[in-house]
Amino acid sequence: MKQEEKKSSEEQSELTEVLTEESKLYQPSKEFVQKANIKSWEHELAKADKDYEGYWGEVAKELEWSKSWDTVHQEKKKNFHNWFVGSRCNIFVNALERHQKTEVKNKIAIIHEQEGGRKKQFTYGELYLEVNKLAGAFKKIGLKKGDRVAVYMPNIPETAMTMLACAKLGVLHSVVYAGYSYMALRDRINGAEAKLLITANGSLRRGKTVKLKETCDQAVAEDCPSIEKMVVVNNVDLDIEMKEGRDVWFEDIMKEETGEGVDTEIMDGNDPLFVLYTSGTTSKPKGVVHDHAGYMVGVYHTLKTVFDLKDDDVYWCTADPGWITGHSYIIYGPLMCGITTVMYEGVPDFPENDFIWDLIERYKVSVLYTAPTLVRLMMKYGDEPVKKHDLSALRILGSVGEPINPEAWRWYYEVVGGGRCPIMDTWWQTETGMFMLTPLPVTPLKAGSCTKPFPGIKASIVDKKGKRVPVGKGGFLVIENAWPAMLTTLWNNPKRYLETYWEKIPNVYTVGDMGYVDKDGYFWIQGRADDVMNIAGHRIGTAEVESALVSHEAVVEAGVIGKPHPIKGECAKAFVILKDGFEQSDELIDALKKQVRGSLGPIAGVDEIAFVKKLPKTRSGKIMRRILKAEELGKPVGDISTLED
Ligand code: PRX
Repeated sequence: MKQEEKKSSEEQSELTEVLTEESKLYQPSKEFVQKANIKSWEHELAKADKDYEGYWGEVAKELEWSKSWDTVHQEKKKNFHNWFVGSRCNIFVNALERHQKTEVKNKIAIIHEQEGGRKKQFTYGELYLEVNKLAGAFKKIGLKKGDRVAVYMPNIPETAMTMLACAKLGVLHSVVYAGYSYMALRDRINGAEAKLLITANGSLRRGKTVKLKETCDQAVAEDCPSIEKMVVVNNVDLDIEMKEGRDVWFEDIMKEETGEGVDTEIMDGNDPLFVLYTSGTTSKPKGVVHDHAGYMVGVYHTLKTVFDLKDDDVYWCTADPGWITGHSYIIYGPLMCGITTVMYEGVPDFPENDFIWDLIERYKVSVLYTAPTLVRLMMKYGDEPVKKHDLSALRILGSVGEPINPEAWRWYYEVVGGGRCPIMDTWWQTETGMFMLTPLPVTPLKAGSCTKPFPGIKASIVDKKGKRVPVGKGGFLVIENAWPAMLTTLWNNPKRYLETYWEKIPNVYTVGDMGYVDKDGYFWIQGRADDVMNIAGHRIGTAEVESALVSHEAVVEAGVIGKPHPIKGECAKAFVILKDGFEQSDELIDALKKQVRGSLGPIAGVDEIAFVKKLPKTRSGKIMRRILKAEELGKPVGDISTLED
């Protein structure tokens, strides 16, 4: 083989096969389009495409600034981007302060419910006061602009207050999901050198009390030299030890404050707002940094348009504040948009498996934003728990975190949404800060596709060298231009920032996912590049094989890995969870193998199938295939700090 041909075939072997095609389009209803804030998707895409910086500049004018920007976007140093350069602002002003001058002040900002039924709610006016009081208390503790606060809190309003109080003072929050072990917490505290740790005595989950303060004590006991103080919210009925001189009750420090006269730090638009460690399915967590100005504009505009928000919407995002979804779309986004947001502290299928639908009915939730893992869990319980409830307030559904397989998509659409609620399958990342590939509610949808890049975003599928691959061929998903909520660096590690995102493929932001574009220009995500299997020279993404399995009536969830094979190089092994009422058997194994071959063709055949009760997942619900693989091959599992169980 000539040198060049060899090279080209090597490059090709980096690409993935495309095995399935969904072509049915789900059109929005006429009434829906009439009422939508944006009526023409194509028009919005074309408008932003002409001048994406101008597009974001226009959007930014809807927010409040202490000083407007000189330049919308600038690449300060190669691959280091600044947005709204020269501006002065604070996201706190847009999330709370500006609403004090309008009728939004008296509207409910947060509805909180705790497992067991305890309820709390805050109007925008009340929340503003609480955040000012907390900011006053933080100042007395000695926090100042640029300091870091570690947050290890449940899904409660005090978490939102903490993040907003930090933002107000120009202090960076580093939220750590309150399900991580003390080791993971310790490493993240040390990574950010946090001065203060804020937590709750405990939280309720599936009828048990999770002892959060105890985990914090363990973390801090193990060499966290930067921590000076610990603030503790009295969230559940649980006695804890308070260390003299270090620990204080949230309720006690709040009592001392009036909330008057606490100045908001007016930040340079490019000052950092927070650090957030990625959940990491494949490698060691990275401290992603987002700035005030760009993040504020990107999150505000994407939430408002993608969920077509109206003043009377009741919005529920089932994520946790510990993830980027919680930061952008439970806390900052909904508050900037002035809507009512639900924070539920507990799990969606407890005490009964219809709890989630019960809550939607009671609060008349109109926008539900959740993850495929939860849709599949609910699907497992069947249609009956959903049908028991009046979900007629629902208008729009959302999905995030993993590819949503067409089977789960259709169930979500038909059974939950009653065939009238469009599904916004939003593709994005901790690093992107905001939705990147997503439909708008007026977009004709395809089950399982995140459709096209959001207006102003240029994405494509390329090979290793950055050359676009033809339509219908799989490759690396990349982003070709800058966007406002993009990460600005990795905490204390600009070198890793460049290597991870900008130096793998020339001149683009590398996402780390594989995917393809179909003949209508719709994008399909095939899974993380690191999980791709190489079967007889065909690179096959996990998503399609898992989807083919889930489309069998007996299967609710599947994780697929490649394992060494003497002839094919690798072969696929599937770990399958069965729906309630189905039994494992050799016949079922044969049926499932046939199902995969039938829907994907012989190259994607699954050689082995194992039935399992659970799959290893990150705490945010993504399947950790690397752990399945390590276990299968008897190799060390590596970093498991993000593993759920
Ligand atoms: O692989 C993609 C998957 O989740 C990754 C980002 O994970 P994280 O930073 O934890 O943020 C999750 C919440 C934004 C992506 O690289 N992912 C996220 N959304 C989707 C998705 N995969 C397919 N479809 C999606 N809608």
